[in-house]
Amino acid sequence: MAHSLQTIVVVVFVLVRITTSQDTQNKLTFEPNLSSSNLSTIQLDGSKTHVQSIKDDLVCSSCKFGLDFALWKFRKPDGTYPGLFKFIITMCKDLKIDSPAVCEGMVSALQNETSFLLTKLQLNGGQICGLIFPSKCQSSGLSWNDDKWTVPIPQKNPTLKSYKTKPREGSPLKVLHISDLHIDLMYEPGSAINCDDPLCCRKGQQVSKKEAGNASYWGSYGYCDVPYWTVENMLSTAAKTQKYDYILWTGDLPAHNVWSQKRSSQIYLIKNLTTLLLKYFPDTAIYPALGNHESDPVNSFPPSYVKGYNSISWLYDELVKAWAPWLPKDAIATVKQSGYYTTIVKPGFRIVSLNMNYCNNENFWMLLNPVDPNNELKWLVSVLTSAESKGESVHIIGHIPPSAGGDCLKVWRNNYYDIITRFKATVTAQFFGHTHTDEFEIFYADSSLQNPISMAYICPSVTTYTNSNPSYRTYDVVSNTWTVIDHHTYILNLSNANTVQSDPQWKLEYSAKSTYGLQDLTAESWHKVFKSWFTDTTTTGNTFAKYYVNFHKGHPPTETCDDNCKRDLLCRIAGGNFTNLNCVS
Ligand SMILES: *[C@@H]1O[C@H](CO)[C@@H](O)[C@H](O)[C@H]1NC(C)=O
Ligand SMILES: *[C@@H]1O[C@H](CO)[C@@H](O)[C@H](O)[C@H]1NC(C)=O
Ligand SMILES: *[C@@H]1O[C@H](CO)[C@@H](O)[C@H](O)[C@H]1NC(C)=O
Ligand SMILES: *[C@@H]1O[C@H](CO)[C@@H](O)[C@H](O)[C@H]1NC(C)=O
Ligand SMILES: *[C@@H]1O[C@H](CO)[C@@H](O)[C@H](O)[C@H]1NC(C)=O
Ligand SMILES: *[C@@H]1O[C@H](CO)[C@@H](O)[C@H](O)[C@H]1NC(C)=O
Ligand SMILES: *[C@@H]1O[C@H](CO)[C@@H](O)[C@H](O)[C@H]1NC(C)=O
Ligand SMILES: [Zn+2]
Repeated sequence: MAHSLQTIVVVVFVLVRITTSQDTQNKLTFEPNLSSSNLSTIQLDGSKTHVQSIKDDLVCSSCKFGLDFALWKFRKPDGTYPGLFKFIITMCKDLKIDSPAVCEGMVSALQNETSFLLTKLQLNGGQICGLIFPSKCQSSGLSWNDDKWTVPIPQKNPTLKSYKTKPREGSPLKVLHISDLHIDLMYEPGSAINCDDPLCCRKGQQVSKKEAGNASYWGSYGYCDVPYWTVENMLSTAAKTQKYDYILWTGDLPAHNVWSQKRSSQIYLIKNLTTLLLKYFPDTAIYPALGNHESDPVNSFPPSYVKGYNSISWLYDELVKAWAPWLPKDAIATVKQSGYYTTIVKPGFRIVSLNMNYCNNENFWMLLNPVDPNNELKWLVSVLTSAESKGESVHIIGHIPPSAGGDCLKVWRNNYYDIITRFKATVTAQFFGHTHTDEFEIFYADSSLQNPISMAYICPSVTTYTNSNPSYRTYDVVSNTWTVIDHHTYILNLSNANTVQSDPQWKLEYSAKSTYGLQDLTAESWHKVFKSWFTDTTTTGNTFAKYYVNFHKGHPPTETCDDNCKRDLLCRIAGGNFTNLNCVS
């Protein structure tokens, strides 16, 4: 098969490369061109994505093989690996895993923590490839997927009287939710929307792709984040449209140029955007949650016992300053230590902001000791136990959703699921972001998936990354019961907005209640809708078609949602445990 022939060719190349790598001036004698026409002649189903995945397989097997060999070759008796990262950069460039600038930037950004972990954990080649090139290579055999641990959850105190509250009459609270801004300060109208880097629409990029289009003023469908002026326009529009009782801001501020970021650029953006929010909402409480992109390198959130250069305190100390206008002293104290906090919003109503980076399966520090990092879930249980005893309601906010379709470690997610099940009367809603798509997740009491107990709303991103419209959302929350009774999602339709320079129109895309025909927004009502999608085997079935369009923020892919696509979306809703659908969790 052509596939295995290619593998052999690449493996031979890696061997040649390694044996000559000590002399870095050595010119390559043999270089396979993985982007050449050879690959596209491999006949499978002929789709572009398949060719891409074959390329990734090839790159990955060469990467694993090459690194196993390199680890053996570069290892010194004292356990260090001088020259290893230089080799990885060369390999990245030669195998065209990424563009030269991205290869250099990513490897040098990840060098410190990878070598720390390498000496502690004796990683093998496959594991390192997964760590450094996660989008190309799946890590195999990393221990974080195998570890089992449980956080103790106390039973409900039987003498506790249950607080039966009625929703307060009058108009509900208005809550604004903004997620995944990913502002690109280098955004340049007219630049290419598809380039050689993972993020495009920027100044001075290499473009070898023929069909690349050009970036538009307000944002672009492509591999692009959003310009500053689009975000400012959104905030000013949202502020003019109505008054909000409070704002949820669930993280990911920087653009996706993860290969060229620095601690200082991350801090600059946190300060800059805090200032911007204060400008448009000077008198509104804002409850932020920490994204996975705020760190440098991306996804790097060591637990607090990691000290010295790699310590995360450079970031948490900045959060303390940035979030100070909105949070009380005790909340600030846990932010400084761990990046999470809780605070009272109104009497009887509390918000818990989780640092979901301690469940992030791309946070390599979790390899060291993934057992409830920074005691976050233990802390959550204690906050919820105390809230329950006082009859408070709690909204949980965070960046990465605890869903199976996402990036949350399974063991962490299972513990979290158990906590929500135990405190289902106290936790009246959950809010996340990170996926950039418009989704929701139904929590169930057991694996029969018949007893829905809680809802998590996953807010679509402001960024267009990739191929979508900028968007934000508002929720209607009833006082006293602190339940969500409706939500409204707004988008900037870029097809329209980019035809004019001034006054782009942010429009209501849909309201949850009327679009999905919900009686109310309880988990039971969502479950009914969800079940109707599950039993409806035609892909065009009633509201599922609307869900599909909304999922993509009004800009769905041109191909229709086939059975695999539908199963994937449904699995994400049911927390990945819908055995009838063969979801992988
Ligand atoms: C790789 O192949 C493509 C298409 O055949 C060609 O345009 C490009 O110049 C080649 N690159 C190198 C480095 O040989
Ligand atoms: C790649 O394609 C070229 C011409 O298209 C051909 O000469 C060459 O043998 C191919 N290489 C492999 C490894 O298939
Ligand atoms: C790696 O860590 C050292 C301190 O241990 C620091 O001086 C150096 O700047 C770091 N390098 C990178 C690329 O982050
Ligand atoms: C569009 O982008 C390409 C590649 O960046 C550039 O060569 C071309 O001049 C641009 N076209 C316009 C109309 O700006
Ligand atoms: C934030 O960044 C924008 C865009 O670069 C700039 O115009 C503005 O002055 C900055 N604001 C602050 C407070 O740094
Ligand atoms: C998921 O499904 C499996 C198999 O049905 C079951 O054992 C497990 O308890 C379920 N987990 C949750 C969190 O519902
Ligand atoms: C966006 O605008 C285009 C062009 O007017 C239109 O075809 C499309 O339906 C609009 N999309 C949404 C979600 O409103
Ligand atoms: Zn994210």
